[in-house]
Amino acid sequence: MKTRAAVLRDIGKDWEITELDLDPPRAGEVLIRYVASGMCHSDDHLRTGDIPVRYPIVGGHEGAGIIEETGPAVDRLKAGDHVVCSFLPVCGHCRFCARGMSNLCDLGALLISNSLPDGTFRFHGDGEDYGQMCLVGTFSQYAVVSEHSVVKIDDDLPLEAAALVGCGVPTGWGTAVNAGGVRPGDTTVVYGIGGVGINAVQGAAAAGARHVIAVDPVAFKLEVAARLGATHTAGDAEAAQEIVTEVTRGVGADQALITMGVVTEETITSAFAAIRKGGTVVITGLGGLGKKTIQLPSFELTLFEKQLKGALFGGGNPFEEIPRMLDLYRAGKLKLDELITTRYRLDEVNQGYRDMLDGRNVRGVIVH
Ligand SMILES: NC(=O)c1ccc[n+]([C@@H]2O[C@H](COP(=O)([O-])OP(=O)(O)OC[C@H]3O[C@@H](n4cnc5c(N)ncnc54)[C@H](O)[C@@H]3O)[C@@H](O)[C@H]2O)c1
Ligand SMILES: [Zn+2]
Ligand SMILES: [Zn+2]
Repeated sequence: MKTRAAVLRDIGKDWEITELDLDPPRAGEVLIRYVASGMCHSDDHLRTGDIPVRYPIVGGHEGAGIIEETGPAVDRLKAGDHVVCSFLPVCGHCRFCARGMSNLCDLGALLISNSLPDGTFRFHGDGEDYGQMCLVGTFSQYAVVSEHSVVKIDDDLPLEAAALVGCGVPTGWGTAVNAGGVRPGDTTVVYGIGGVGINAVQGAAAAGARHVIAVDPVAFKLEVAARLGATHTAGDAEAAQEIVTEVTRGVGADQALITMGVVTEETITSAFAAIRKGGTVVITGLGGLGKKTIQLPSFELTLFEKQLKGALFGGGNPFEEIPRMLDLYRAGKLKLDELITTRYRLDEVNQGYRDMLDGRNVRGVIVH
């Protein structure tokens, strides 16, 4: 069949809308009609080359849709099911899945080629194979996806909101709750209030943080953060440090969570300075490929037992966290509709990413 998709052909090139051929699903695969896709910053890292991948590639990894057809040997899913795609595939059997660390599933190695797990491609055009971002490729009307990437959800949930729980929401929430281990009474700083960071704010507030300090140079982001759980806002790391010093009486923050678009040494240094003895810095945002962004005094790391860690998918298990986020949404304890600033058509994808980089969106969403 044919499908329209937004693709990247090389580093530094804009998104291009093109018609591709799509193969039918093979064993263990499903054909999905995507309804909505969030515009996460990670797709822009493909454009800039900050994330290394094979080109050409169909973009998009934060999507929800409806199954049209299942391939052989799929018994967990059926046509008509409403689904969210996990941006990380989960095999369930590798050493990491078996230990309950399925965000680190060995299938993640495919995120360079972005082929399906059997090593082949379903999207083709002009004699070339197209990869699909995070094995899902949600900037396409249709895609064939491994069942390892697909989480069934209830039919009555709005798919535009549900799309966001494929990446930004559990990533941000888990950065605070899982990786950061926020506890009632904590002081938590969040650097970068985009589609990921706003959910670190929501997660920290839900976990009972007494002070949630949102840091972003864009005033509009800070307004949204204040509505969704931030107790304090700051335009830069220096202003955040003053607030931390004041509200903790000089002790320091329990957590400093880095969710900015392109991570810098400067912010990591500020975050490390902001935490208390035994506090935790979590780095969830990505820095440029190969850039050395960490230069810290190990003296302080050792004597103050400060901790610094990375987090992928917020340190949680996708097949557990995605339904959990939707349950929280249903219970009114997690806001999703409020995260969508602007809706775009597929052919407006370049405009959507310009708006993201200009600070106009908490999250832009492509509605197919
Ligand atoms: N680790 C993971 O599992 C994972 C998953 C998804 C996304 N990411 C990464 O997380 C990062 C954030 O993604 P997003 O979609 O929320 O991006 P976004 O562009 O929507 O938001 C980034 C925010 O950072 C702010 N910012 C820029 N410079 C800043 C600074 N010096 N101090 C504070 N804030 C600053 C921007 O104004 C913007 O609001 C990206 O690097 C993305 O690739 C990681
Ligand atoms: Zn993402
Ligand atoms: Zn696995």
